[in-house]
Amino acid sequence: MTTQVVKQPETARTGEPPPAVEHDVALRVVDLKKTFGSRQVLKGMNVAVPRGSILVILGGSGMGKSVLMKHMIGLLKPDSGSVIVDGQDITRLSKLELKTTRSKFGMVFQNGALFDSMSNWENVAFPLKEHRKELKGEALDARVRELFNVFSLDVDALGPRYPAEISGGQRKRVALARAVALEPQIVLYDEPTTGLDPITTDQVDEMILEAKHKLGVTSIVISHDIASAFKIADEIIFVYDGEIVCRGLKGAMLASEHPFVQRFFATWKEKNV
Ligand SMILES: Nc1ncnc2c1ncn2[C@@H]1O[C@H](COP(=O)(O)OP(=O)(O)O)[C@@H](O)[C@H]1O
Ligand SMILES: [Mg+2]
Repeated sequence: MTTQVVKQPETARTGEPPPAVEHDVALRVVDLKKTFGSRQVLKGMNVAVPRGSILVILGGSGMGKSVLMKHMIGLLKPDSGSVIVDGQDITRLSKLELKTTRSKFGMVFQNGALFDSMSNWENVAFPLKEHRKELKGEALDARVRELFNVFSLDVDALGPRYPAEISGGQRKRVALARAVALEPQIVLYDEPTTGLDPITTDQVDEMILEAKHKLGVTSIVISHDIASAFKIADEIIFVYDGEIVCRGLKGAMLASEHPFVQRFFATWKEKNV
């Protein structure tokens, strides 16, 4: 793959030349460091996510996966390092500037995080009402219906109900429908299949793959599910104690000499290899 690089003008605010736009990279993390209290949670992470690819982040709990993802979308500011999206270091943006950048992202948080006081229909319609003001009435309803259909949700039955009135798996799918409503370039998923049954997990995997193949969406997925990681990933990074200790695909993960990586895959290996 060749890297096309387009130089951009200098930023007025810092006077430094901004990073060049890399047309084949959707998001690049450069030497990202973050400490909370006395604990360094990110110890200098580097990763580039090619456009239209799926990056899966694996690792034990409390290892810094969610913190890394929150930096990728600008929800947290690093102590040092950068996150480059379309030639912009988003760690340096003001809150207002970040708002524009955020429309490039869709995010599904660990616990789904729907608005409890809105119906499921309203939840999916919400980003469209905020950002696609030209969509109204029947056109809005048609788009919401389409999104429900993509995730095999019955809009007539589930749309009028509230998140608390549907199953966990359905809530997850409503959250996914809402996350992709604005057709973002990059969708971030924090453990999208935690707590889901195997069939629904499979549907979520299919959905992430479809977003890639049909819409060219770049996806970054935190997962605990090894089978699903092997199925969907173009690259896997394994995070241990704030560092990427293994990267690659199935072969690299299973061949890793890192004791924690070996332990993580041991049970899966016993059952599958
Ligand atoms: N906002 C925060 N303030 C202080 N500590 C935090 C914050 N967010 C995460 N942490 C700590 O950072 C570590 C990594 O957390 P996290 O990235 O959520 O782990 P995981 O890999 O399970 O997603 C944990 O020890 C967590 O307690
Ligand atoms: Mg987490």
